[in-house]
Amino acid sequence: MKRLVLSDAEFAAFARLLHDSAGLAFDNSRRESLAYSVTERMRANACADVAAYLSMVTGVGGGELQALLDEVTIPETHFFRNPPQIRALRKHVLPELLRQAAGSKRLRIWSAGCSTGEEPYTIAMLLRELLPASSGWDVRIIATDISKRALAAAESARYGERAFVMTDPIDQQRFFYLDTDRGGYVIRDEVRELVEFRHHNLVTDEPPFAPGELDLVLCRNVTIYFDRTTTKRLMHRLHGCLRDGGYLFLGHAETLWQVSDAFSLVSLGDAFVYRSGDPEAERRAVLPDRRTEDEPRPTRADRRRGPLDRRLVAELGSQPAPAEPARDPIIAVRTAVAGGNYAEAADLAAEVGTATPLRSEAHYLHGLALSNLGRDAEALVVLRKAVYLDPDDGFAHFLLGVSLERTGERLAAARSYRAAAGTLGSRPFDAVAPELGGRSVAELAALCHRLALQAEGVARGEMQR
Ligand SMILES: C[S@@+](CC[C@H](N)C(=O)[O-])C[C@H]1O[C@@H](n2cnc3c(N)ncnc32)[C@H](O)[C@@H]1O
Repeated sequence: MKRLVLSDAEFAAFARLLHDSAGLAFDNSRRESLAYSVTERMRANACADVAAYLSMVTGVGGGELQALLDEVTIPETHFFRNPPQIRALRKHVLPELLRQAAGSKRLRIWSAGCSTGEEPYTIAMLLRELLPASSGWDVRIIATDISKRALAAAESARYGERAFVMTDPIDQQRFFYLDTDRGGYVIRDEVRELVEFRHHNLVTDEPPFAPGELDLVLCRNVTIYFDRTTTKRLMHRLHGCLRDGGYLFLGHAETLWQVSDAFSLVSLGDAFVYRSGDPEAERRAVLPDRRTEDEPRPTRADRRRGPLDRRLVAELGSQPAPAEPARDPIIAVRTAVAGGNYAEAADLAAEVGTATPLRSEAHYLHGLALSNLGRDAEALVVLRKAVYLDPDDGFAHFLLGVSLERTGERLAAARSYRAAAGTLGSRPFDAVAPELGGRSVAELAALCHRLALQAEGVARGEMQR
């Protein structure tokens, strides 16, 4: 069957169906990808006519709708995905949750949109590091997804090399065994027994937890396919399931900015996560640049001195001389970038970022310098902070896309390029970023569209191999 071109009416009908049944938003930029999925399903059903296929997919039973959902959903995932979040789970979140549940010995975790199972199994492995199998704890990780195809793969617990790009060989050896007969690495029972997979639609089904029952929910890289209204509703439901102080982990490109005020943004090491309510002192506003009441407000003199000088004053414990106003330290970073001194720029930006962790510009320039030094894995960490703190910074999204692509995360790169194209649109058309080769906004936005399509094409090719 040759490649299908959907008419406007056909595209609108499929997009409406997928939105209403699963919350999936298909705008024009994903039209080709939808046509590809429809072609695949029509081929599988030996159906040559789009109108006939549409009635088949909306027909009774829902069998073909499920098959189409299996086709259009994007299962990209791997073990130990998002290293900053994994570090936060390992060092802070799981030990804290276990300490808090020491009395009841009961822990409830939801991996919402678990795809082929790498995420919930990763959590189970992290828990197994802390809790031996014989510890007598009642721990359940409920892992849900709308895709039956992904869930079947998850239940099989058998994985190929691709799933291990972020896995330490020691963890691979400890939690998997190589099945030399059938091929692939299989998860050991001590990990498998903590996870229960269920078919569940996050948009239309009731959550599988009672109100306030949940300690931790991971809903990572799921809402990127939803519109804001659907995401708002889902976050409201997730919040209802979490106990006070429970944690919510979203993907690096997802934010509750203008979505929900019910959570606090917490920075744990180099990760940002959300928390229901605010039982601890470490409260952050969801709007990242809004100052909270418990942070000391800078005095007028402080503001004149700038953050790095404030830190020095605090460290030396001395009163500054009534000196001339200090320069904003970010100027030195920009000067180093402009001169191509990226190593110096990276060091300076790291200092500014440490002194003022909510200043997105510092993280952006830090990422730019690291990216120019070819240190993409490090660049990812700070660029994620930059887009988290300022979701409208198209330049930061662009750089994030570049680093993601260079580290092999092609679909994530495509999403960042699209986010860049979308947010760049809000800047003056002839604005120029000197640090990005003096490209104009219009040029950069067009480039991002092209790069997104390219990255998706390569990813598709890789998945089919
Ligand atoms: C990109 S994967 C993310 C996997 C994993 N959370 C991670 O971050 O590695 C997104 C998953 O969300 C699932 N999904 C999309 N819409 C859904 C819905 N309405 N209900 C449940 N799952 C959904 C897809 O089937 C897919 O497996």
